[in-house]
Amino acid sequence: MKPQSEGMSRRTFLRAAAASAGALAAGSLYACDGEPDTPTGSTGQLPAGLRGYGDYGGGSGGTVTRYPLRIPPVVSPASLMLAAQPTTYDLGGGQLRHGLGYNAMVPGPTIRAARGAAAHIVVANGLAEPTSVHWHGMQVPTAADGMPQEAFAAGASYTYDFVINQRACMNWYHPHPHMLTGKQAYLGLAGAFIVNDPQELTLGLPSGAYEVPLVIRDVELDYGTGEPVYSFDHDGVLGNVPTVNGTRDPRLDVDTALYRFRIVTAGNSRIWHFSLSNGAPVTIIGNDGGLLEAPASVTAWDMGPGERLDVLVDFRGLAVGTSVMLRSSSSRWDNWGGGDTFDVLRFDVARQVSVPATIPAVLSNIPTLGAPVKTREFVFSGWRDHTINGKVFSPTRIDFQVPFGVTELWRFVWDRGATHPVHVHGTSFQVQSRRYGRGQVYPWERGWKDTVLVGDGETVEVLLRFDQFRGRYMMHCHNLEHEDTGMMLNFQVV
Ligand code: C2O
Ligand code: CU
Ligand code: CU
Repeated sequence: MKPQSEGMSRRTFLRAAAASAGALAAGSLYACDGEPDTPTGSTGQLPAGLRGYGDYGGGSGGTVTRYPLRIPPVVSPASLMLAAQPTTYDLGGGQLRHGLGYNAMVPGPTIRAARGAAAHIVVANGLAEPTSVHWHGMQVPTAADGMPQEAFAAGASYTYDFVINQRACMNWYHPHPHMLTGKQAYLGLAGAFIVNDPQELTLGLPSGAYEVPLVIRDVELDYGTGEPVYSFDHDGVLGNVPTVNGTRDPRLDVDTALYRFRIVTAGNSRIWHFSLSNGAPVTIIGNDGGLLEAPASVTAWDMGPGERLDVLVDFRGLAVGTSVMLRSSSSRWDNWGGGDTFDVLRFDVARQVSVPATIPAVLSNIPTLGAPVKTREFVFSGWRDHTINGKVFSPTRIDFQVPFGVTELWRFVWDRGATHPVHVHGTSFQVQSRRYGRGQVYPWERGWKDTVLVGDGETVEVLLRFDQFRGRYMMHCHNLEHEDTGMMLNFQVV
């Protein structure tokens, strides 16, 4: 028996309940929801574009009103104040919703800095419970890593000081308090963190308006109120509406140019299966740890919680007036987070320009880590608890020590439960192999990663080396409900 059956039956129940209530609720739902394109009336039928639970909001088909994509402001980390606090935010077209924001924004500002810069970030906790901020992908000392042990109380603040010393990449930031990460991140606490370096700048990649961060999350909007609701599900929380940069059903006017999209899939549990509606390939140039060695052209790609991709999309051949949808299709392989088809973001080709851009054949140098001196195996098991090697997380237990500066092979073994996106703090890793399940390492998983999907039945091996800091770090499943229910451990780099 599969452990996720409990959770699935809850969702199935919700869907069934929603479907049967749909006809009755449709009128009042729309009245509450304030949709600008609401066809009201008392026909007892769902309006066009709203064909039931799965299509509430970002479903495909029908006439969905689209809202301009929000682009979060860019800030420097040199002397940054971030207040984590309850806020309202515009989900699109003036639909104000309640959530948790950094500086009253969902997602928070995009932090951008060059390699070598110093970050000095003071976070004030305006929530009613402890929080912390983890700079996912940033290699920082333990005290600045925002782990559960370093969470701080409501009303308190915490200062994060670190020097940015890593290659160009896009990371992100989010809360990491013990057993509260899922709820706080779900309600809106997240943001992008971009690092630039001189090597990347020599490539002449699309920049300015042609470089767009996309923080993609799914959220569950309550039927009656339209408010985001967090209803804990031990197997992982999925939403019924995709959002990008906090905008539901977004659209972006684009020029006939080459664009660089910096994507982070920041949902709690969702596995996305992306493609473009016109079937065109995209060019993957980077992922979690920055640029790949060489670009890779793909027509579909998968991403799970915490993963990032750096993607070039070419609109140069398209006529003004054309629209292309970034879609997520239902799962080809995962056993949990891929059941929905979503229209995630529509690109509307709006302006003819002629901007020279070439895609470099060589992007960066990825050093090899050498032969591992030690192999460690970690079994990820989702049952009533979520465990690694049979243990539930304890903030005070350190499970093992890793020598500084030495290459190790870590083997992640799926045992039971929904797909486990395995994340390591304190370094990046290189994916070596995936056996069973999908049985391959994909082009977007080359180079440097810090989060990798371990799907149903799979075994994934990575090489890593901790050569930045000694100290306490952690490894965990980035399905935030798995994490909150124990699929996490501490280790010490010595
Ligand atoms: Cu993005 Cu330990 O987390
Ligand atoms: Cu992290
Ligand atoms: Cu998991």
